[in-house]
Amino acid sequence: MEIRELEVPEIGQATALWQSVEITRPWNDPTSDAHKALENQSSTILAGHHEQRLVATAMVGFDGHRGWLYYVAVHPDMQGQGFGQQIIEAASRWLAEQGVPKVQLMVRTENTDVIGFYERLGYEAQDVVVLGKRLE
Ligand SMILES: CC(C)(COP(=O)(O)OP(=O)(O)OC[C@H]1O[C@@H](n2cnc3c(N)ncnc32)[C@H](O)[C@@H]1OP(=O)(O)O)[C@@H](O)C(=O)NCCC(=O)NCCS
Repeated sequence: MEIRELEVPEIGQATALWQSVEITRPWNDPTSDAHKALENQSSTILAGHHEQRLVATAMVGFDGHRGWLYYVAVHPDMQGQGFGQQIIEAASRWLAEQGVPKVQLMVRTENTDVIGFYERLGYEAQDVVVLGKRLE
């Protein structure tokens, strides 16, 4: 798999991939999220291509304190071949190159099956509760 930054004309392919693995939600606009991530210098979307096809993504960003991952996805036909691990490692390198000391991510409670994937890559549950509030 070849990994590089997603380009704006590829956003539609990325959102189709996210929909195929059911990580989009009606209250989030993935197209808008993708544009913002690519416009902002402290974030990007890494895209993995295999045989000219977009098969994996990870949105990665730095908030000034920690690095965060979002939209981690491997196409359903291509899972279980190490592509998820490769895209996470690429996102980790991107953060390390910016001097970011720690990466974390949120897993929805209905998607806890995926926790084993992150544990396999050395991630550990953190002793925190995430609180949130809509600003608009
Ligand atoms: C999670 C996801 C990105 C993993 O991608 P993948 O390409 O299938 O994973 P890999 O093949 O790189 O797996 C790496 C290792 O994790 C293990 N692993 C993968 N999924 C796992 C799971 N659900 N539970 C436990 N271990 C898992 C693999 O067996 C492999 O271990 P190994 O090196 O010992 O063989 C992919 O399943 C996916 O896109 N899921 C749907 C979207 C999603 O839930 N994203 C995460 C949102 S937080």
